[in-house]
Parts: sequence; C-alpha cells; structure tokens
Amino acid sequence: MEGTVGRIRALKEKRNAVILAHNYVAGDVQDIADHVGDSLGLSVAASETDADVIVFCGVTFMGETAKILNPGKTVLMPEPEARCPMADMCSAESIRAAKLEHPGAAVIGYVNTNAESKTEMDVCCTSSNAVGVASATEAGKIIFLPDANLGRYVSENVPDKEIVLWEGYCPVHQSISPDDVSRLAASNPGAVVMAHPECTAGVLALADYIGSTEGMVGFAKASDAKTFVVATEVGMGHRLELECPGKDFVFPPNSVCEAMKITTLESVEKCLEGMTGEIRLPKDVMDRARVPLERMLGTPNPV
Ligand code: 13P
Ligand code: SF4
Repeated sequence: MEGTVGRIRALKEKRNAVILAHNYVAGDVQDIADHVGDSLGLSVAASETDADVIVFCGVTFMGETAKILNPGKTVLMPEPEARCPMADMCSAESIRAAKLEHPGAAVIGYVNTNAESKTEMDVCCTSSNAVGVASATEAGKIIFLPDANLGRYVSENVPDKEIVLWEGYCPVHQSISPDDVSRLAASNPGAVVMAHPECTAGVLALADYIGSTEGMVGFAKASDAKTFVVATEVGMGHRLELECPGKDFVFPPNSVCEAMKITTLESVEKCLEGMTGEIRLPKDVMDRARVPLERMLGTPNPV
C-alpha cells in the first residue's frame, strides 16, 4: 500500500493505535479512522478500546475526554491547537461562582468543555443524551453549561426542572440563520430539515428533526425523503452521503468549524510517526473530571 494512507495504516499497526474521528473533520481523515461518530459515540469508543495509543481527530476537549477515560493510555492529537471556542467560554472558576449563586442546583455540563471545568460538574452530557441526563437528575434546579441553545432546548423538553442557562454558544451553529434555512428549504421542494440542538430557537422551529450528528445519520437513513437541509457543520455531508447513497444534503452557507478542519492526513501521519501532540493532564484533574463523565456513561457514581 502506498502513499500517506498506507503509511498511516502501517504506523497504526506498529503503535497498536486506534484512530477516532468526529463527524465534522475532513472526509479523507474520516476515511482512515477506526471509529467516526458524534461526541457520545466517540466517548464510548474511547472508554472501550484496548489499543495502547488513541489518535483523536477532532478538537482538544475530545482528546482530553479520551485521556480522562483512559489515564493509562497514550492519547495523541494530530493538531493540539484545534480548540473548540465554546469550550473556552466556561472556566472552572466561573462554575464555582455559579454554584455559590445557585446553591443546591445540579451542574450539567456539555462534554464540549475543558478538563478543568469538568472537575466542577455533577454530570456531563452530549447533544445526544442531554434531555435524558437532565430528566434523570434528581435536583429540581439545574445549571446547564456552556451552550445556551442546547440548554434552552433541554429546558423545553424537561419542563418540570428549573434550568439556569449559561451564555456560551457554538459560533458555527449560532451563525446559521432561520432565513438561510428557509431559503434552502424553499429552493428544494420536499426537502426535510434536520437541525443540531446547538442551533438557535428560530432554526429549531423550522426543523422536522432535531438531533446530534449521529442522530442525523440514523434519521436520514430511515427517512423516505430524497433531499435534506442540514443545519449543522458542513463536514457532516461526508458521512451522510456515504451512508445514504442517492440522497442529497444541502448546508447553510459558511457553516464551517475551522478547528475541526485543521487535522489533515499529513498531520495524522506526523503525529503517529513522532508520537507527538500527547494529551497530558494532572492526575487530580483527571480523577475529578472522570466522575461526571462516568456518570454520563452510566458507570459507577449514579447522579
Ligand atoms: P455531536 O457530535 O455530539 O452532535 O456534537 C456536535 C459538536 O459541535 C461537536 O463539537
Ligand atoms: Fe465547538 Fe461548534 Fe466547532 Fe463543535 S462545531 S467544535 S461546538 S465550535
């Protein structure tokens, strides 16, 4: 086997490595991964692997999550500077202040947060399980962070809880406008609209289906529709086209997450070759951040 792909396969074998890739990374990087999925699916894959090395193609909070769940393994990020801007909208210190302001409230934190912030959470969630995690939480009051759009969507679906919203947002989903979605729907008669819950309320109001990136794959596969307007990051198109041959997927303009696009086949090869971009976190941070992650994954520590 020749070229970059062949060299990556050989290095993967040599290092006993597994490659995990998020649905938003470039298509050629998704194609060399052992698992491609949403944040929840990749957290589960990271918690179950018996490889010695995990190469995470995505953003840093995902690599950190893999490391926290596998403290004895080597976790490499081909592009350690690929940071999610939303994760940086919520510090551990600001969570401590919110807890003082709302005593007795449970803290549910989106997995899109940095490791240090996870140490202050009761339980983590992803976009696939946020409603279920909030419903299962015993506390009547919840601080939901950092995504205000996802938090608002959760509060609409869990009306018996008081939900305190954070002011964070995903710049990519926030910038998708209801007008863009309506225009695409109007120019593709019969199209079904799928939207990620990180979108604004105006966009979600136009959606036939609301769900995580993995949820969208399942919905599009099962649907009889031929055309879909997809209100999420454009990298999703690769997975959807692969899994739904003969169906068409159109995306709003500029729905590109720069951080997800930094990773290339060349950077994956380089990191496996030199074992670079290793995620290193203090043991006490990992031990405390593991508690909300394991609660989310349903292992010990029930909420
Ligand atoms: P999911 O893959 O969990 O739907 O998350 C989307 C996202 O924005 C990840 O950064
Ligand atoms: Fe963060 Fe949004 Fe990019 Fe996901 S798509 S990594 S939430 S900025």
